[in-house]
Amino acid sequence: MDHPNLSLKPSYGSPPPSAPLNGEMILLSNVYKTLGGKPILRGATLSIYPGETRVIIGRSGEGKSVLIKHICGLFQPDAGEVYVDGVEISRLGERALTPIRRKIGLLFQNAALFDSLNVLHNVGFTLYEERKLTEREIREKVLETLKMVRLGDILEKMPSELSGGMRKRVGLARAIIQNPKILLYDEPTTGLDPVTSDAINDLIIKLAEELQVTSVVITHDMVSAFKVASQISMLYEGRFHFTGTPEEIRDTDDEIIQQFIQGRSEGPLTNL
Ligand SMILES: Nc1ncnc2c1ncn2[C@@H]1O[C@H](COP(=O)(O)OP(=O)(O)OP(=O)(O)O)[C@@H](O)[C@H]1O
Ligand SMILES: [Mg+2]
Repeated sequence: MDHPNLSLKPSYGSPPPSAPLNGEMILLSNVYKTLGGKPILRGATLSIYPGETRVIIGRSGEGKSVLIKHICGLFQPDAGEVYVDGVEISRLGERALTPIRRKIGLLFQNAALFDSLNVLHNVGFTLYEERKLTEREIREKVLETLKMVRLGDILEKMPSELSGGMRKRVGLARAIIQNPKILLYDEPTTGLDPVTSDAINDLIIKLAEELQVTSVVITHDMVSAFKVASQISMLYEGRFHFTGTPEEIRDTDDEIIQQFIQGRSEGPLTNL
């Protein structure tokens, strides 16, 4: 006979509570995060749909990198939820996160190459870890991926021998080698000359088209933002202040947006 109290609890067979999803590839719902005693994300809500290239702008220290780390489970929210490709990842452990992380390629802000490994081992890192391919197959796959980011046979080069633009591209090759569904770029053009930056912009567009990925690009570089974005969202005081197409962002009379995109030091953004 059933214990009477059990009838009050959902049974294991019942469907999970319906997710607030509406076809999003990435959904952050009312995310809060405090770090080092400082509230960083304060109710951030963001919906990104499959195939989009979403640019995220915002001042230095606003929490853009923290936000992107929530999407790949490197941070967990204090409150709120994060969904990736239909799965709520906000409270998953490392093991449960592994299949989710496989869907995501992440280009870190500083490219984050392993200094002691050559390009072959940096780009092929996960392939070596998985041990499914032979050495020869890994070399071929790495070469093919380097070609996608317009790099030749630099397999034996060490990160210290590469220029900033090459490092970013090697980081990008590492991010795309597993055919991710989602690509996260943290400041892909920062510190690069305008011509190299534009080559990176073209790559972001090309990868979005060829791999059909959903891309999230954090940048301060408004030339890049306007070129690659399908939509731009501005993070301000821990929430999304504005989302719109490049045209809508350009045309808005919102003072905070205008001050940011024009790079003016005077205005509401300064006196915080
Ligand atoms: N692991 C951490 N521990 C404590 N504080 C952190 C940690 N990571 C980030 N922070 C803090 O969170 C805030 C937001 O940092 P974040 O790196 O997300 O900024 P950002 O918007 O990416 O800035 P930038 O444009 O300069 O890269 C900063 O005050 C930073 O010091
Ligand atoms: Mg950052």
